[in-house]
Amino acid sequence: MKFFVDTANVAEIRRINEMGIVDGVTTNPTIVAREGRDFETVIKEICSIVDGPVSAEVTGLTAHDMVTEARSISKWSNNVVIKIPMTMEGLKAVKILSKEGIKTNVTLIFSVSQGLMAMKAGATIISPFVGRLEDIGVDAYQLIADLRHIIDFYGYETEIIAASIRSVQQLEKVTKLGAHIATIPDSLFEKMSSHILTTQGIEQFMKDWETFEKREK
Ligand code: E4P
Repeated sequence: MKFFVDTANVAEIRRINEMGIVDGVTTNPTIVAREGRDFETVIKEICSIVDGPVSAEVTGLTAHDMVTEARSISKWSNNVVIKIPMTMEGLKAVKILSKEGIKTNVTLIFSVSQGLMAMKAGATIISPFVGRLEDIGVDAYQLIADLRHIIDFYGYETEIIAASIRSVQQLEKVTKLGAHIATIPDSLFEKMSSHILTTQGIEQFMKDWETFEKREK
């Protein structure tokens, strides 16, 4: 199971990366715009911090525009992956890019058929959005399980990133269902690392140790 961090904030990426458990980074136009910095500068900086794949999204809507952007972005670093929206034009772009050896992450996947089409087009990664599906009352976990089954059954090389993860429970569920990767917002790492019994346990150990040390003096 790989953990990607879902942010374009370089300070957050450095902080999380220090734990040694980050395998990659995902961004999208909303996340990059939030930083108020130049797109190319931010992506290049992230790629220099993290060794694993860093997803950078195209904003063109035609296959021609997406491919032109993707070819340019792919030169920024050898660990950049091009995020392409799940549309018919997007699939055309993925087909061309995969033939050129450019890695792609097909994003905004909400159904089995979308995921299957992206796999067939040659997507390196697909991003089903768990949180956004749950927002509209759809079973996102069945989608993750179905996509994983299809990959294994038909032998596709595509990997699943469970995206739009907002809670520890969501993260744990997609892990058990076989998502290859989860992309996680910075704030969730703290919650994942915490448990009330861990906090109480540390407090008790410290208290008992102080009592012991006082007795020994
Ligand atoms: C990552 O690839 C997605 O862009 C991101 O996880 C979307 O998350 P959100 O639904 O919380 O915006």
